[in-house]
Amino acid sequence: MVGKICGTGSYVPENYYDNHDIAKLVDTSDEWIRERTGIVRRHIVKDDTTVSMAVKAAKAALENGAVKAEELDLILVATITPNHITPGMACEVQKELGAVNAAGFDMSAACSGFVFAYNTAQAYIAAGVCKTVLIIGSESLSNIVNWEDRGSCILFGDGAGAAVIRAEDGEIKPCVMHSDGVKGEVLACESRHQRDWQKKEEAKETFLSMDGKEVFKFAVKKVPEVITELLEKTEYTAEDMDWFILHQANQRIIESVAKRMKVDIDKFPMNISEYGNTSSASIPILLDEMNRSGKLKKGQKLILAGFGAGLSWGATLVEW
Ligand code: UT7
Repeated sequence: MVGKICGTGSYVPENYYDNHDIAKLVDTSDEWIRERTGIVRRHIVKDDTTVSMAVKAAKAALENGAVKAEELDLILVATITPNHITPGMACEVQKELGAVNAAGFDMSAACSGFVFAYNTAQAYIAAGVCKTVLIIGSESLSNIVNWEDRGSCILFGDGAGAAVIRAEDGEIKPCVMHSDGVKGEVLACESRHQRDWQKKEEAKETFLSMDGKEVFKFAVKKVPEVITELLEKTEYTAEDMDWFILHQANQRIIESVAKRMKVDIDKFPMNISEYGNTSSASIPILLDEMNRSGKLKKGQKLILAGFGAGLSWGATLVEW
């Protein structure tokens, strides 16, 4: 069996900070942020939470796919900003959807999270364990960003995206996943709950830290490599692909990948100017926008590629 995406959905909070708003917080400018990242605005939670955004995106995906919540047998939530340590986000979403027949668990693979969740869903379907899987990427990164660090706070935004995947006859498509924990410190956030309770230490407030240059170098090298590795598992070349839907981390990273792959940049859709980097949510938000605007046509071949903290990176082939 193979999983086919039958519905997509997304949700971003209405509230946003544009680059001028960020320039009131740290020493930066609209011009610098646009030039170095392509970002103009990022949406930031006000009344929403990671769970409420996930639920809204999931409901939209179920409606789009004409799938009832009771039909779901698995819910996977990719996130690094869950509402609680426990219960997991997937159980909270399951409750809100009334998905009474679904099991659920969370996956922490940062900006690779949606691709890793997609590949996991495909593996469960191929093994005959599940038939209808809901995968979600949802993040309220604004809660862990250091709003005093201009090297990172300019990049991130909040939002959620989801896809419903249904089993049908066919064989699982190639997918690739990698991790390199040795380089983990270049993009990290310590647990806020790590403390010595016996010394009665207070829980620390900790924030995301990033060595932007190192992450940039990693991304422009590993993303073309992983796409090439994926293509080598198929009978296709890069030219046979209709779309390359990359994690929206930085416009310059995406442009560099297109150049290294010698593929027309028009095949690399982008929405980073509006949302910034929403980690696990960026690929499904973009996928949903493309689906709803009619850009994705039946039979088209898509490559999804995620990369980020861990370090982690991966790619997968999707036939629409
Ligand atoms: O999902 C994965 C998550 N992360 C990423 O993908 C991040 C990948 N990295 C990047 O996107 C880029 O490295 C950044 C956008 C974060 C930074 O861009 P850069 O071109 O790598 O800048 P830089 O760190 O090399 O800094 C260049 C200069 C420095 O000044 P000096 O030393 O040349 O005088 C920085 O201090 O720009 C300065 N700078 C800024 N200036 C204005 C750094 N951040 C800012 C800022 N505004 N926000």
